[in-house]
Amino acid sequence: MAEKPALWITRKLSDLTEARAARDYDVQLNPEDRVFTPDEIVAKSHEVDAILPCHSEHFNADVVARMSDRVKIIANHSVGVDHCDLQALKAKGVVVTNTPDVLSDATAEIALLLMLAAARRAGEGDRLVRAGNWDSWSPAFMVGTQMTGKRLGIVGMGRVGRAFAKLVQGFGMEIHYYNRRPLPPEQEAGAIYHAAIEDLLPHCQFVSLHCPATPETLNLMNAERFALLPEGAILVNTARGTLIDEAALIDALSSGRLAGAGLDVFQLEPGGNPQLAKLDNVCMLPHIGSATRETRDAMGFRALDNLDAFFAGEKPGDQLV
Ligand code: DGY
Repeated sequence: MAEKPALWITRKLSDLTEARAARDYDVQLNPEDRVFTPDEIVAKSHEVDAILPCHSEHFNADVVARMSDRVKIIANHSVGVDHCDLQALKAKGVVVTNTPDVLSDATAEIALLLMLAAARRAGEGDRLVRAGNWDSWSPAFMVGTQMTGKRLGIVGMGRVGRAFAKLVQGFGMEIHYYNRRPLPPEQEAGAIYHAAIEDLLPHCQFVSLHCPATPETLNLMNAERFALLPEGAILVNTARGTLIDEAALIDALSSGRLAGAGLDVFQLEPGGNPQLAKLDNVCMLPHIGSATRETRDAMGFRALDNLDAFFAGEKPGDQLV
């Protein structure tokens, strides 16, 4: 029988994923779920034919240059690949895959949760009750913003953006969107296209970010663009922290330009931004958009499907380079 390919799974994945990987590969797992340093990643690359990493492992140009030629494929357990220098990996002849589709619904759910939480001041209310400081009630108490019937802007109408648009249908919102290209009418489902973010933002009483982190989207939401939003808008980000200039966001939240924000992702992860944590009108989560049992299994299986195809001599379904 042919030897199984040697695979390193960098983080603790779902039980079903690890069991399938152990069945089909000569696998190295990480039961302690510790984060490996760049030097350790380079050292591991000498021991395996394939790596199945998460967005917590960075394959930047330096790491890629030092990696062993033994590694033939990086099968990411993530849809985002901003932790990978794709050009450097391509130049080295390493195949890179990701896990699109399978996390769209879970991420859209977290976007909805954060949008409601920011609009209805859920984080603030929870902190108040939890701290034992809820000592009065009045019609003027903790009044928030209603989502129903408002205008929503979606920046990035890829799979997650479209899943989010579908999810909010019950709120009767008028949906506007920015995308590099307009969607075909059947995917657009009545949403209104804007060819520039500057044209979109003045319509957005609510805005949700769903585009990838690239050099072009770095600080996509900055002071100039916050100024284009209607007074009292609500911002949600479940995509990547680098899409927002956090200093400008803090100014917009402090001045009331934004009534609130819901954030699952930050410029600095893990940890987030302690200055944002001082503001009551921001609801924050620790990058858990795809963290459901169902989605973790689906992500793991999708990454393994890509590996299986590669080692069967086929092109993986989610090959990026
Ligand atoms: C993704 O898949 O990109 C999520 O952010 C989790 O890594």
